Amino acid sequence: MTTVLVVDDVAVLAEQYAYDLKRVGGYEALAAGGGREALDILEREAVDCVILDLEMPGMDGFEVLRALERRALRVPVIVYTGTGNYDRCIQAIRLGAQGFIDKAEPMERVVREVEGVLERERLAAQVAALRRDLGTEAPLVGASPAMAKLTERMARVAPVPSPVLIVGESGSGKELVAREVHRRSGAARGPFLAINSAALPAELVESELFGHERGAFTGAVTARKGAFEAAAGGTLFLDEVGDLPPAAQAKLLRVLEQRQVTRLGGNRTIAVDARVLAATNRELEKEVAAGRFREDLFYRLNVHVLQVPPLRERISDVPALVEHLLATTCARFGMRPKTLEPAALECLMAYDWRHNNVRELRNVIERMIIATDREVLSMEDVPQEIRDHAPGPQRTTYQAPRTLQELKAEAERQIIVAALERHDWHITRTAQALGLADHASLLKIMRRFGISRE
Ligand SMILES: Nc1ncnc2c1ncn2[C@@H]1O[C@H](COP(=O)(O)OP(=O)(O)OP(=O)(O)O)[C@@H](O)[C@H]1O
Ligand SMILES: [Mg+2]
Repeated sequence: MTTVLVVDDVAVLAEQYAYDLKRVGGYEALAAGGGREALDILEREAVDCVILDLEMPGMDGFEVLRALERRALRVPVIVYTGTGNYDRCIQAIRLGAQGFIDKAEPMERVVREVEGVLERERLAAQVAALRRDLGTEAPLVGASPAMAKLTERMARVAPVPSPVLIVGESGSGKELVAREVHRRSGAARGPFLAINSAALPAELVESELFGHERGAFTGAVTARKGAFEAAAGGTLFLDEVGDLPPAAQAKLLRVLEQRQVTRLGGNRTIAVDARVLAATNRELEKEVAAGRFREDLFYRLNVHVLQVPPLRERISDVPALVEHLLATTCARFGMRPKTLEPAALECLMAYDWRHNNVRELRNVIERMIIATDREVLSMEDVPQEIRDHAPGPQRTTYQAPRTLQELKAEAERQIIVAALERHDWHITRTAQALGLADHASLLKIMRRFGISRE
């Protein structure tokens, strides 16, 4: 349900307008008789759009816009004017208003304007979520000791050009870790190219990785660059490297040793400068012992290993992950962000996520969001199989915070610490990454939570 707030110093006008909006647009409509009252309502209620009078005694529309900015209340505002002074409307747009209308305009036009503004908001949120989905901005959420250790190791291996092997259970975040290593490496400006050997038919793997010349095999009607060439200056991520067919394993080893590649059916050697990251959820030692993975390639890849911990070993990250997944998934669906009741969160923290780790949690959250219209998800929304498998929360060793306030504070603290670590405790950069106004705001939050580098 969309909620619109109409702000006008003439109370009857605001109420009439709200009534008409409800009737024509089908909105939930609230009315405020002045700037201060409007701000109070906005602090309290989830309002989707504000229609704001510019000319008001006391706190006028411009001051309301400035106050919204100062309080970081992000709600789209349409200003309306009865004086026909459009210069003032333009001024309001500069202060962050999204549109303006004349008080005399028919309600249908106003509803169209509101819809336009809401659509723009939804699109902006979706673009942000997609960007995160694409991995260009996806943060590695989690400040548990296990994640802190991983982050520390990542910071060490990222700058060196050698291959890195990323191991961890299915869905634990190996690809996300690979992208983070790329971002922190000297190859960050180049492309990040992921090749999944398990998803490719065996006869295509080599051509995908190393490229081919024209006529190299039936169907090779043109020459084609392989992934090593395409990732030049960047990072090549070999996902599911344990599934690479034997012949491709031999070639891969040669490419890694000689830092050059020969396309199939060709004899030119092409220098390779792509940083290579490889991931697997198999135990490569076992694959080597069983003769399915080349030992020499294993030792070549095994120099630097990043172990991504399973979610059950970092249950204290669940609140922050849930918050992150709720926000990104709702944004992706163009919904207002939902929240989770403490009891439901405890239930998710008691489950072991052995099956698919963070991906499993992500899918559960998505199912919970879709299954109900309510904005606060409760215990009943947690899928039955999770509730069944979760041992009573009293048996978990983790001391779960009790109230929603405590849970939120804990999640917030973890998000801040993780962001700080990602940016080497550079305050200004971290504040920017978190979308805070300035470094002072971050320092204030850090003081509130008692966060310091030690
Ligand atoms: N620490 C994390 N913070 C936020 N999201 C995460 C984290 N770890 C994993 N995810 C999310 O969980 C999902 C699975 O992660 P990813 O694809 O990186 O796992 P994987 O280990 O590569 O899985 P697979 O073994 O199946 O290939 C993705 O949607 C990813 O964004
Ligand atoms: Mg993966």
